[in-house]
Amino acid sequence: MSEQRSSIHGQWSSRFVFILAAVGSAVGLGNIWKFPYITGENGGGAFVIIYLCCIAAIGAPIMIAEILLGRRGRQSPINTMRALVKDEGAHPAWSLLGWGGVITGFLILSYYSVIAGWALAYVFQTAVGSFTGANAQQVVGLFQGFLASPGTLLVWHTLFMVMTMVVVARGVRGGLEKAVTLLMPALFLLLLILVAYSMSLGAFGKGLDFLFSPDFGKVFFHCELDAAGAEVCRFSGEPILVALGHAFFTLSLGMGAIMVYGSYMPGNASIARATLVIVIADTAVALLAGMAIFPIVFANGLQPAAGPGLIFQTLPIAFGAMPFGQLFGTLFFVLLVFAAWSSAISIIEPAVAWLVENHGMKRVPAAAFVGALAWFLGLGTLLSFNLLSGEEFQLFGKTIFDLVDYLTANILLPLGGFFIALFAGWIMSRASTRDELQMGESIAYRGWRFLVRYVSPALVVVVFLHAIGVI
Ligand code: PHE
Ligand code: NA
Repeated sequence: MSEQRSSIHGQWSSRFVFILAAVGSAVGLGNIWKFPYITGENGGGAFVIIYLCCIAAIGAPIMIAEILLGRRGRQSPINTMRALVKDEGAHPAWSLLGWGGVITGFLILSYYSVIAGWALAYVFQTAVGSFTGANAQQVVGLFQGFLASPGTLLVWHTLFMVMTMVVVARGVRGGLEKAVTLLMPALFLLLLILVAYSMSLGAFGKGLDFLFSPDFGKVFFHCELDAAGAEVCRFSGEPILVALGHAFFTLSLGMGAIMVYGSYMPGNASIARATLVIVIADTAVALLAGMAIFPIVFANGLQPAAGPGLIFQTLPIAFGAMPFGQLFGTLFFVLLVFAAWSSAISIIEPAVAWLVENHGMKRVPAAAFVGALAWFLGLGTLLSFNLLSGEEFQLFGKTIFDLVDYLTANILLPLGGFFIALFAGWIMSRASTRDELQMGESIAYRGWRFLVRYVSPALVVVVFLHAIGVI
């Protein structure tokens, strides 16, 4: 049974708290910042449908697999994989899965903190009324000026990283549990208010149309803005890869974050039911964010393909114009920072837990060390929006930020997830997974096992082959 091992880091105090923490990890910048802008860049509705298919056919079964591995191993992902390799008599190379996740985590956190820093800065900008009454042009100008100043970005990046280190140092269970209970529903509510505002705009229908009515041609043609702001499209496998990669990113899958949270999960809680809740909550937040943002984009004649700055160039227009906008706007960015915070914590927990287990480090120095390293790596992303934005600093037409984002979301996370699925589906014995999932030989169990053995891994391979132009 799953009570064979116990975690030296402690356990979530209940099944409900595990779900909260996992939702805290899943819901973050991925939903509110990244989902809208990649949807905008990849033509809207058809991309959204493919993304939703990836969530259902690949994300959900792999989330069950990843939580299951964590709970069975009850340690940091590196040591969990080691323990399971022993239990199941598998080849030791499978332990590399834990290591890969830790490295991926560093890379993700490095840029995650920079973007969360933008949100942090916008808490104050909104609070002092910088956007009150501002038109689209002024809001865009403000954002561009902000990006052009590395010193300012550095302050916010540093502040966010320190916030993350503090919570991780104290152990992820204490303060986080209470905060998530209150703030996640509040974020949801504010998104509803924003959607209500967007409904009042003439462009609401156009926004919904963009988000939900599919034009599949757009998924095979990738469109970007050229230097003059005109849209150029070319045939490419990229949008489907981006949809797949984002399914992993948004669900915190493929690098051990959900695995390490699973290792603190009470033994008697249902993994499948928890997964259902996490997936639904994450998807709902992303779709609400899209419904809030695209009507504002169209109402103000902005470009859906504006890129990573999309929400920072659209939402402030709404806050500048709506009643109580200063209050709602400040609150919104506070909640966005919080959502990013609870995700960032889960991104470095695998590395910190490993340092504590293997090097007998205390949590405080372990968190400080890991955070400092990610902070340093983040300087590359920070500078790719200003000093290093020029073509001479790009590789394959991508800045450092683009490269790190592409490598982690589109390659490393799907690869990690692919191997997690293979491990749970082929390497672990049927008895082990059935025991851990506590669903018996039900149809649900058999369906899950079929998905992780065949469907999810095969789909990942197909998308990879499509992206490199083979099919
Ligand atoms: N799921 C988080 C988000 O959507 C990001 C994340 C990725 C968290 C990987 C943990 C691990 O913002
Ligand atoms: Na997410």
